[in-house]
Amino acid sequence: MDIDSLQAQVKNDLEKVSSPEALEEVRVKYLGRKGVVAELTGSIPGIPVQERGEFGRKVNAFKSGLHELFAKKEESLKDGEALRGENIIDIGMPGIAQQVGTLHPLTRITDEICSVFSRMGFSVAEGPEVETEYNNFTGLNIPLEHPSREAFDTFYLKDYDKKLLRSHTSPAQVRIMQEKKPPLAVVVPGRVYRPDAVDASHSFMFHQIEGLMVGEGIKFSDLKGVLETFAKAIFGEGIKMRFRPHFFPFTEPSAEVDISCIICGGKGCSVCGRKGWLEILGSGMVHPNVFKHVAIDADKYSGFAFGMGVERIAMLKYGINDIRLFFENDLRFLRQF
Ligand code: PHE
Repeated sequence: MDIDSLQAQVKNDLEKVSSPEALEEVRVKYLGRKGVVAELTGSIPGIPVQERGEFGRKVNAFKSGLHELFAKKEESLKDGEALRGENIIDIGMPGIAQQVGTLHPLTRITDEICSVFSRMGFSVAEGPEVETEYNNFTGLNIPLEHPSREAFDTFYLKDYDKKLLRSHTSPAQVRIMQEKKPPLAVVVPGRVYRPDAVDASHSFMFHQIEGLMVGEGIKFSDLKGVLETFAKAIFGEGIKMRFRPHFFPFTEPSAEVDISCIICGGKGCSVCGRKGWLEILGSGMVHPNVFKHVAIDADKYSGFAFGMGVERIAMLKYGINDIRLFFENDLRFLRQF
């Protein structure tokens, strides 16, 4: 038998092997007791003496070549098995689920409130948290001697000439009216700062949403209609509202707005302090002195403004009893939203 063609035959046989069992069959065929190699070895005595040495060497080389080929094939079978086995990525296995984040309740309520106002034609703007004393106070008709101007009511920035952390979002009114002329309607959400001791209902930082509408013939009834639409959209159609006379230096007349208690419906409970009403915001008609500061003609234009505490609205809407929960990053709280 021609050893060269045997060599080709082995390769051919091995190519078809895809399991350890099939490999064993091929091994037996060549290296078994009655296999090809045994047959070759058995044929040596019949070879003419002068060719015997040459033939024997060829048989030996063939034999050790076979060992090598089988070993290689065994390896590659193992690799293939590993690919299908536990050691390697199982693309059919379910992945490790990633936690999907949720919006912070304050972000959620802010978005909700702003979208109610944008449906009524308001645009949404933002202002800086570091403000000038002028925008936070003077431009808003808050005179020098007004108590809220005193340092203990406001965080002033050290070595930062008359700059402060805004104590309300109302300075945005000044910025808006400096930039744009009426008619305009804008809401401004953002952080505000006051040096209050932290407790269940106070925080040195909280959020407000300012609203401002200025145009020809804007009346107090427009303010009422806009705020009623807002309150019903956020707290439900059944909610009642009332306007209580109040004082703000930058609006005249001014009013604080209450909604009927969402817990007891107005009968009186511990949440509303037995009053049946909950205060939700401050508002009023833009004071002529504020118009004067931004060079808007108060004889031609009128407008209203309001400012609400976002935490307060969220606490009422979601039944949260401690403002600190918003800022502690406790996932047990945040995951509920
Ligand atoms: N800026 C006021 C406050 O923080 C609220 C307010 C805004 C009142 C606009 C009237 C008009 O208390």
